[in-house]
Amino acid sequence: MKKWTEEEILLWAYRLEGREPQEILQWMVREFGKEVILASSFGAEDVVLIDMLFKISPKAPIFYLDTNKHFRETYETRDRLQKRYKTTFIQVLPEMTLEQQKEEHGDKLWERNPNLCCEIRKVRPLSRILSQYKAWITGIRRDQAPTRAHARKLEWDSKFQLVKCNPLASWNSEDVWTYIRAHDIPYNPLHDRGYPSIGCEVCTRPVGPGEDPRAGRWAGFDKTECGLHK
Ligand code: ADX
Repeated sequence: MKKWTEEEILLWAYRLEGREPQEILQWMVREFGKEVILASSFGAEDVVLIDMLFKISPKAPIFYLDTNKHFRETYETRDRLQKRYKTTFIQVLPEMTLEQQKEEHGDKLWERNPNLCCEIRKVRPLSRILSQYKAWITGIRRDQAPTRAHARKLEWDSKFQLVKCNPLASWNSEDVWTYIRAHDIPYNPLHDRGYPSIGCEVCTRPVGPGEDPRAGRWAGFDKTECGLHK
């Protein structure tokens, strides 16, 4: 497997910028073969990517970080997708159970120190799974947050030390929903109940009309990212 330099990644980011997400995924599968993995939390963007990727590579690996604190609807969405695509997603668990976390850090860590909780239940497990791959694919879009406004379709992830691909970076929410409806893809029903962005149940609330789509994530804290994306 060739080693990618930052210059090459930049060049390919430029070449891939105007391409459709499916073409980008095709390119990723061609370049990285079994060494690329898709990250999914079964949100709207992720179900689009799951559908596109399986049409290109039916056995492509897809994982989810199971914090043990997802909504029941999220787990049910996982199950519906597994049935539809006749697959099993890779479950990535934290090293600590919720019980162990309570013993070590006290009850309801997420209410006192959500950064540490995300670190234990998302960031460290992510680091573990990504260390086995050369590239990962995510559903981030530029218009989701100012922190994502400069996301490239292909970039070097210096935090986790591998190539990162964001095929939907230039899509907006309408593009995502048009694809979901056109292909009749199972999606998280919470999206229809005021949850545009869905994380753990204990740290996600619905947003009101006109509110920022990510306002419901870690509401009440000065926190907009969990550490997966810088
Ligand atoms: S987060 O960092 O705030 O949680 P967000 O919910 O916007 O991220 O999702 C952006 C992308 O991060 C998703 O499209 C997916 O690729 C990845 N991601 C987020 N949460 C998870 C998870 N629990 N498991 C796997 N991938 C995830």
